[in-house]
Parts: sequence; structure tokens; C-alpha cells
Amino acid sequence: MTDTVHLFEPLRIRDTTLPNRIVVSPLCQYSAIDGLAQPWHFAHLSTFARGKAGLVFTEAAAVEARGRITPDCLGIWNDDQAEALRPIVDFIDEMGCVAGMQLAHAGRKASTRAPFVAKGGSPLSPEDAAEAGAPWQTVAPSALPVADGWHLPEALDADGLAEVRQAFVDAARRALEVGFRALELHMAHGYLLHSFLSPLGNQRDDDYGGDLEGRMRFPLEVAAAVRAAIPDAVPLFARISAIDGREGGWELDDSVILARRLGEAGVDVIDCSSGGIGGAPRFRSDDSGKPLTTDSAREPGFQVPFARRIRAESEVRTMAVGVIVDPRQAEEIIASGSADLVAIGRELMYNPFWPLHAAESLGVDPDYEMWPKQYAWAVDRRAQIKTMNR
Ligand SMILES: Cc1cc2nc3c(=O)[nH]c(=O)nc-3n(C[C@H](O)[C@H](O)[C@H](O)COP(=O)(O)O)c2cc1C
Repeated sequence: MTDTVHLFEPLRIRDTTLPNRIVVSPLCQYSAIDGLAQPWHFAHLSTFARGKAGLVFTEAAAVEARGRITPDCLGIWNDDQAEALRPIVDFIDEMGCVAGMQLAHAGRKASTRAPFVAKGGSPLSPEDAAEAGAPWQTVAPSALPVADGWHLPEALDADGLAEVRQAFVDAARRALEVGFRALELHMAHGYLLHSFLSPLGNQRDDDYGGDLEGRMRFPLEVAAAVRAAIPDAVPLFARISAIDGREGGWELDDSVILARRLGEAGVDVIDCSSGGIGGAPRFRSDDSGKPLTTDSAREPGFQVPFARRIRAESEVRTMAVGVIVDPRQAEEIIASGSADLVAIGRELMYNPFWPLHAAESLGVDPDYEMWPKQYAWAVDRRAQIKTMNR
């Protein structure tokens, strides 16, 4: 073992200890049936536990049926859906990792096609209900479509807001019943809670719209209601879009204020993503406010400056995400204090054993002790020749 490697230091949040700082970012698989996890979900999520990511988040699990992005999304609005996830959670525990669930409501971005079917990612229409599923009425803060040709959502009234708030609470309880040990509220990517925050999604003139305070009200109520319903021991994350990257949209200054308020409401970690409110986002590579107008801004670690500033100014832990691909890059993010955790998505799909390989390359696990025993004895690079042809 070399000097301290921050990426592999455990992190205790409330009464839950994550064995390292590597988190599986939520990754929709569009492979559920009636919201129920399938063998694919077991294979997908258990692989990351074999790979020893510290915290394995499920994909966005819809807290109610109309909150699914597609008909094939995971659901957590009934007990059968929760039970279908229990074996996955048990396996993740057995591997010494922590299982987390992302609780989500797609709002006006619901009722679309999976990305890998014909016309992927576009809104469902009645004509192709047979192949892709039937469209359903979407809901949002205001009756504003994401873009031309998208579903016109219904604006939630007071009863509707209460229903959705309760759906988040019930979903959280259900997830904990089957053993999940961490939860994340999805407040990013243009989905329901984000569309309340952003002036581009929220044009209400009641208490839930208008100025920043009004626009934050519903997401903060959801966070407080979920926190009140779950044991103190359970870490609660919130994924936010730190910037909309659009003229007149949500800005990083807003995120700092939101992070403080979420912290007061009992959120433990702010997961700092960006974009998704609609239209083409213009990302920024630093926090100086200088807009970048091309996709080249999506360079490695392009969202890390958001996590850094939010962490420094809100005193809430942060998780960085977005093109984190190299162990040294990840180590630097943690060591420099930019974030407390790194979430990795596509690179983990490419290489689910990334954490084990990172531990080897950073000198943390020279003897393959982190590997599952079934593999450890055989994968030792120094001894592979001896274990051949047994
Ligand atoms: C296939 C796929 C599915 C995703 N599903 C979700 C999701 O369910 N919830 C979410 O918040 N983000 C989702 N994302 C975004 C990722 O969690 C992550 O933030 C993004 O891919 C950037 O990280 P990366 O560069 O490490 O992949 C998804 C991304 C991909 C590629």
C-alpha cells in the first residue's frame, strides 16, 4: 500500500459507511416490465458489486406510473416492484457494497420511447402503441411542452402536488423495506423536480412558482417529506442540474442556494450534474460564468467545477459526475476536495471492474484482496500461468 489513496478511503454518512468513494451513477436500462426488475437488472447491477463500486445506485425508479420516462422504466410505486429488487440488494450487500435507489418522476419528459427502439427517445404516439407502448398524460409545474412536438403536460394542482409528494415518500419507504441503504432524489435533467426549479419549466403564479423561493418550494417539500419518513441513519442524496446552460435558465448561483436549503432539509450529498431542461445546453467548463457554446465543453470532468463550488459554498458534501474515466483523475477529484464521491456511468458500463483495476493501478490492492474470492485466486497477474488449465 502506498501513501493514502483518497479514492479508496471509506466515507461514513450518517450510520452508513461506503467502503470507497466510487459510485455507480444511475443508468436507465429500459428493460423492466410493468416497472418490475428483470434478470437483466440483476446481471447489470450485480456486476458493479462484483467490481466493488462502493455505492451502486439503481437507475431512475419511477415513484408513480405516469412518472416513467418510458414504458420500460423501473418502477417503485408498488410492493411487487420493490420485492423484485430484493435479490439484487442482497447480492450487493453480500459483496460488501451499498445499494442505493434513485427515486424519480419524469414529469413532462415522461411517455417516450426507449433510446434503442425506432424513433428512440421521442414522445410516444398512439399510432405506434403496439410496438413501443401507449402514450399517457404527463404532468409538470406548468402546461409547457419540453419542445415542439412533445406532449403537452397538465399543470399539477394542489391535490396533484400532494399526491406526487406522497408518492416519493411511499417509494422511499418501499425501497428501504427491501434493504436499500441509500436514496437519491432525482432533481435533474429536466424531469419533474428540476422543471419546478428552472424558470424555463416553471411559469406558475402561485406559491410554487415565481421567484427562486417559490420555484424551490416543491422540491424542498419533497426532500423534507422523504427525510421525515426515513430513519436518521439513511443517507439521502439529491441529483441536481447545477446549470441549465440556457439563456434565462437555472444558474450555478441558484444551485449553491438550493444546496444549502437541501442540506437544511436533511439531504446529505448533492450529486452535481447539469442540463436537460430542453433545447441544446451550453455547458461551461469553469465557474467564472463564461459560456462555452460547443459540445467540446463536455471534456473529462466538465461538471467537476460545479461540485467544487457547491461543496465550498454550501457546506454539503458533493458527488462529481460526468466523463470521469481515469483512476488518477478520480483520485485527484477527491484528494483536491472538489467532491466527496465520484459517480461513474458510461465508463463502468464499458468496464464494470473499473474500481478493482483502479485499486490495482493506484497501488491499493497489489494482492487482489478486494476481488471476490471466486476470482481473486485466479486473476493474479503474477500467478496466472500457474492457475491455467486446472
Ligand atoms: C444509458 C444511460 C442511462 C442513464 N440513466 C440515468 C438515470 O436513470 N438517472 C440519472 O440521473 N442519470 C442517468 N444517466 C446519466 C448518468 O447517470 C451520468 O450522469 C452521465 O452518463 C454522465 O456520466 P458518465 O460520463 O460517467 O457516463 C444515464 C446515462 C446513460 C448513458
